[in-house]
Amino acid sequence: MMNLKIFAATGLAVCFCAAAAAGQKNDEGRIDELLSRMTLAEKIGQMHQITGTGLSADMTAAVRDGKVGSLLNELDVETINELQRIAVEESRLGIPLVFARDVIHGFKTIYPIPLGQAASWDRAMVEEGARIAAREASSVGIRWTFAPMIDVSRDPRWGRIAESFGEDTYLTSAMGVAMIRGFQGGDLASQDRVAACAKHFAGYGAAEAGKDYNTTWIPESQLRDVYLPPFHAAADAGAATFMCSFNDINGIPSSGNEWLNRTILRGEWGYDGVLVSDWGSIEQMIPHGFSADLKHAARQAANAGVDMDMMSFAYTSYLESLVAEGQVDESVVDEAVRNILRLKFRLGLFDKPYAEPQGREAFYREDALAGARAAASGSAVLLKNNGILPLKEDVKRIAVVGPLSDSGRDQIGTWCFDGEPQHSVTPLQAIRNEYPAIEIIAEAGLAYSRDRDAKAIEKAVRAAKKADVILCFAGEEAILSGEARSRADISLPGAQTELIRQLKATGKPLVLIVMAGRPLTIGSEVGMSDAALFSFHAGTMAGPGLADVLFGKVVPSGKLPVTFPRMTGQIPVYYNHKNTGRPASGITLIDDIPVDAVQTSIGFTSYHLDAGDSPLYPFGYGLSYTTFEYGMPRLSSAVMRPGGKITASCTIKNTGSFDASEVVQLYIRDKVASLIRPVRELKGFKKINIAAGESVAVEFDITADDLGFWRGDGSFGTEAGEFELWISPDSASGAPVRFDLANE
Ligand code: GLC
Repeated sequence: MMNLKIFAATGLAVCFCAAAAAGQKNDEGRIDELLSRMTLAEKIGQMHQITGTGLSADMTAAVRDGKVGSLLNELDVETINELQRIAVEESRLGIPLVFARDVIHGFKTIYPIPLGQAASWDRAMVEEGARIAAREASSVGIRWTFAPMIDVSRDPRWGRIAESFGEDTYLTSAMGVAMIRGFQGGDLASQDRVAACAKHFAGYGAAEAGKDYNTTWIPESQLRDVYLPPFHAAADAGAATFMCSFNDINGIPSSGNEWLNRTILRGEWGYDGVLVSDWGSIEQMIPHGFSADLKHAARQAANAGVDMDMMSFAYTSYLESLVAEGQVDESVVDEAVRNILRLKFRLGLFDKPYAEPQGREAFYREDALAGARAAASGSAVLLKNNGILPLKEDVKRIAVVGPLSDSGRDQIGTWCFDGEPQHSVTPLQAIRNEYPAIEIIAEAGLAYSRDRDAKAIEKAVRAAKKADVILCFAGEEAILSGEARSRADISLPGAQTELIRQLKATGKPLVLIVMAGRPLTIGSEVGMSDAALFSFHAGTMAGPGLADVLFGKVVPSGKLPVTFPRMTGQIPVYYNHKNTGRPASGITLIDDIPVDAVQTSIGFTSYHLDAGDSPLYPFGYGLSYTTFEYGMPRLSSAVMRPGGKITASCTIKNTGSFDASEVVQLYIRDKVASLIRPVRELKGFKKINIAAGESVAVEFDITADDLGFWRGDGSFGTEAGEFELWISPDSASGAPVRFDLANE
């Protein structure tokens, strides 16, 4: 007989599921009833999203007349509640508004940029950061954020790589789901939660040349293998909303792409949330050359399934006439409005439309700052260490130099509209506060990352000469990453390389800490340093978080979520590339080619003469203060049956003297397939703690589904044959074991 406790728990669970289903069924009934009473104008009003203008006469009139469904960027809680009061108490049907904001990696307490959060490979940390962001944002009445951004990004020239979770589909999916869970929690109607938004749907990260908003050309099999899975995972995780991307995919802008938005999102995935356009993206189909005018764009977007128009004014201007002319069926409008009303019911806005003002005590709470500090430590990636790190607390004099040593604004990175730099704790402040016994010689030298003032360098060098150790905080200003911030050269800006060269020339131990919004081509600068730590703009508590790592209170465990090129010209360069028919071998680099060499004297394989064929640092790379020894993976079977699974395990030993965390990564390779498969694909990871001297066995289950891919005939499936499998510390190391996927 089932144990009474289990029975009770099961019964309770069944009750909860039934209640949730009944709740949703009840919502559908309420949606039907409301929709039946709405005029076409009121329906179209729900599909209109505009940016806040306070309590302007136009805004209050539009709300009262039911001409607005959602506002973004309204942040004053009294204004939000007054607009909501007008909507609920003075409009004809009392449909509440939903207020939205870009809360990408924090509202007031700013976490590392998403690319940095991905470097932690820590689902729980990402979820916690989103929970805190939701709590802070909802305290002023924001109930919808435009995050997570889950565009797979293989091109570090693209400024928005900062906002992404990097180059890998599996890692992006895992981080995106974690963020959605943190924003939405288990009950979206809780007033301290916000609706998430999976964006930008889709393929935005494939912008040609890494130039923002640029065109993309993505074969369907690659779109489905690389760019769509994080969105499918987001839909399955219950993301309440999706957002269109600005780009076209193979000539069709996402805001007018019926195949993407109806066939895939609604048809194949059964998604019933809201699809909102991006800012003006419906109107931008005119310059795209896809729409003749705004009325044409409105028709295309509505028929393509875009439920809500953010700031194009296309729907509010033309949808009524398009319906009257039969160019858009009213059922299309009804479906969009259903999705919008469903969101508002799920948010509980019909029952609790008003925010409960909490003032500033909702911000920067102890748990928020502690979480942000741990996130800043956990997202730091140790690139090099000759043993100088961790710093000894008995060090006497430290020179803290560089343009990012004391910049509260730059360390919080891009996409944190509501972050307050005055609340940042910078590296200089943190080291001063927490190590009072150490004499700190502070001299930024260069005033900002693009500064080229040689005189400023002299000051920093003079400071450095007096110190026992130099900590140089270099990198990018926040303004150099994010939307519309693509760079054609991703080296350190300004005269930072010269600064580092002169610091090196002092002969003092030099620790380089780079804070940026993207990978940078920092091979020579790391080469000049005794140790190098990379921090993707790590937020409000970047200073304490990095100080904890530098002084060994936290052992670095970050791993790169994106490949670091040696030089910009290697881009695109990413780990899960194809092998080609002539994989690189017998490399002769440009300076090693003999003078007067004849054409056939050096090799004919796939690499760049001036860069070779390897990146500066591979995806998944990151050092620790300890060392780990990986045993060979062991398989439960050398043959996997179709639909079956095998278990891969590996013993990892901490062979150093620090207790530490390690991100153990599982990769596979399909050796022969009807479409060539990548040389490696991440299919699992686990972040584990291993005490010094101890060993831990890690296990991964691999199912046949993990081996599937989209074929040339448009089907998804697996193909029998040989596979390789790695359990390794990064995407470039370890030896594979082999197994076969059987035919039957
Ligand atoms: C921006 C971005 C999008 C953001 C929206 C609202 O242009 O592309 O990510 O959510 O507009 O600010």
